[in-house]
Amino acid sequence: MELTQAIQKRCSIRRFKDKPVEKEKIIKILEAGQRAPSWGNTQPWRFIVITDKAKMAEVAQAAGGQPQAAGAPVLIVCCATTDDFTKKGHGDALESLIPVGAMTKELKDIVLQNDVFAPYLRGDAYMTIKAGEQLMIAVAYMTLEVVNQGLGAVWVGAITPKEIHKALNLPDNVFVHSLLPVGYPDEDPKPRPRKDLNKIVFWEKYG
Ligand SMILES: Cc1cc2nc3c(=O)[nH]c(=O)nc-3n(C[C@H](O)[C@H](O)[C@H](O)COP(=O)(O)O)c2cc1C
Repeated sequence: MELTQAIQKRCSIRRFKDKPVEKEKIIKILEAGQRAPSWGNTQPWRFIVITDKAKMAEVAQAAGGQPQAAGAPVLIVCCATTDDFTKKGHGDALESLIPVGAMTKELKDIVLQNDVFAPYLRGDAYMTIKAGEQLMIAVAYMTLEVVNQGLGAVWVGAITPKEIHKALNLPDNVFVHSLLPVGYPDEDPKPRPRKDLNKIVFWEKYG
């Protein structure tokens, strides 16, 4: 599918067919997330793919009971870790860019010593925000590949992350950000409204 078409076609799907999703399709969706850009190539995203219905129900329950969270054959629990924003994690990520010519040793050292570039210098809360931001880019990419695979998804952010964290027995350094139920659509909704371009875009100056 052409990219513009996938962008225009994508909309939140909240009803799913009771039809399993091929693993290759799930892998393609995850690969789309993997290719997303991230701050210094930190890639702090982590994805837990759940197909077991009992586990899914447990997560959905912990998520505050939104029915769509357990209504698809696949539930991707979208997590992030601040590990990749520690001095070591961020440093390793920058290091990975050196052999491909996207970073130099000198620039890496500058980045890691400047709080404009290195979130670890601003503390845990800022690292958490940055990790969540990067994850959201990956999930946005994934939602487009979902469409490309003939599937549907709804991004579920209204959750109680700590409850899901407990249900999935996650380590302390990983936090749950949102859920992405994925399946074959059982609805064909019209595109949801958007603000006019002239309300959100300004050329040369604001207002
Ligand atoms: C970060 C994020 C969190 C969201 N959380 C929820 C949610 O908890 N439950 C839900 O039904 N939809 C959720 N949505 C879907 C939005 O309601 C939806 O994207 C918006 O209404 C526009 O509709 P569309 O996606 O069909 O274009 C979320 C979307 C985003 C981007």
